[in-house]
Amino acid sequence: MIKAIRGFKDILPSEACIWQYVETISQKILRDYGFSELRLPIIEDTSLFVRSIGQDTDIVSKEMYTFPDRKNHSLTLRPEGTASVVRAFVEHKMYARDQYKKFYYLGPMFRYERPQAGRSRQFHQIGAEIFGLAEASVDAELLILVYDLFSKIGLPSITLSLNSVGCPACRPPYKKILQEYLQKDHATLCLDCQQRSEKNPLRVLDCKNDDCQDIISRAPTILEHLCPTCQHHQQEVERLLKLSNAPYQINHRLVRGLDYYTRTAFEVTFAGLGAQNAIAGGGRYDNLVEEFGGPPTPAIGFALGLERVVLALQGQGTIPPPSPSIFLAALGEKAREKAFLLLRSLRQKGFCIQMSYQDSSLKSQLKQANQQGAQFTLILGENELNNQRIIIKDMEHASQEEVALEDISEVLKNKFLPFLAKREIF
Ligand code: HAM
Repeated sequence: MIKAIRGFKDILPSEACIWQYVETISQKILRDYGFSELRLPIIEDTSLFVRSIGQDTDIVSKEMYTFPDRKNHSLTLRPEGTASVVRAFVEHKMYARDQYKKFYYLGPMFRYERPQAGRSRQFHQIGAEIFGLAEASVDAELLILVYDLFSKIGLPSITLSLNSVGCPACRPPYKKILQEYLQKDHATLCLDCQQRSEKNPLRVLDCKNDDCQDIISRAPTILEHLCPTCQHHQQEVERLLKLSNAPYQINHRLVRGLDYYTRTAFEVTFAGLGAQNAIAGGGRYDNLVEEFGGPPTPAIGFALGLERVVLALQGQGTIPPPSPSIFLAALGEKAREKAFLLLRSLRQKGFCIQMSYQDSSLKSQLKQANQQGAQFTLILGENELNNQRIIIKDMEHASQEEVALEDISEVLKNKFLPFLAKREIF
């Protein structure tokens, strides 16, 4: 038997409905905040990711799906979306038209990591990016959007960890200070960190190895070494978050696994997900557009991991309300023919309605209606047909009433109002 490859998962219908729920709510909120959708290719030139994410990051050095095409060009399955958005922004000169631009995207990403709960090799992100705005209020607005989004999805109790990673003016001197500090305890650091402390000392800060914890906890923090401009930016972001009652924690160890960040960097975690508890992450990347040949354009964004959001919702037993549906049970040849036409006319009016493909007993058709989770079953037998009437059975309350066939769509519309109110977002 051929099976799906390791780290790649089927999303079966029972789970896909939760995915659709999260995607629909997220897209609605993103559009309300002024973002437009950007659909991007899944494969890009390898150099796009090497140059943006950084040669020394875990993603580029060991997690990318990279392969030559038939003409020996090195291609990569995208490990994230920001690099592609920047590429498209510059390629289509989107900076030329408006003062600022807001985009969102959703789709699969690929990283060759060790699969475990909440971590797969093909995973899915919903991401959002803002170009052309350097103000701290934009960072605060994006973080508040993240709060609103998770709370609307049904995960209000998230933890937002915040840090600044400085800018090209203050990060190199801080790196030196950190390097000098780490040098003193070089031998105590784990082997990975001994290497990192030379190439990418900031990455030592988020090492999980026990040997390194004591050294990291006493390390000089970047917030103490920001230049005045970065410091002012950080203070303003924090002030606006406090003003908006959006709780956050400063995490001096937050450095992110991608090299393009400047200033604000953040991560959102959800307790109860085990080791892979980061459900979203993001930050500013004010130099990336220019590095890819565009004009100097500040930018900021975030992405959430759909698999982890769905796991969190399942973990707390949140099941999206079902979309209201109807089953049409028809008995006998004539009634089935009428039902066949009625089915189409009700679907054309926007109802979600199914009927049995076989002329089976009422009992068996009601069983099907239950299996499909129908809120109402319409019953049309010879008797009802002769009197131009139809029965509506409320499946939850096991009550039923008879109405004139010609009134059925109006009656159903009224019955569905409470269900639609529960799903007001749609
Ligand atoms: P990231 O932190 O690498 O950021 O990924 C964002 C989210 O994707 C993570 O918080 C996590 O929920 C999910 N994720 C990452 N890897 C996996 C995996 N192997 N399996 C399941 N879920 C995963 C970025 O990708 C940046 N592009 C975010 C960004 C947008 N920064 C600025 N704009």
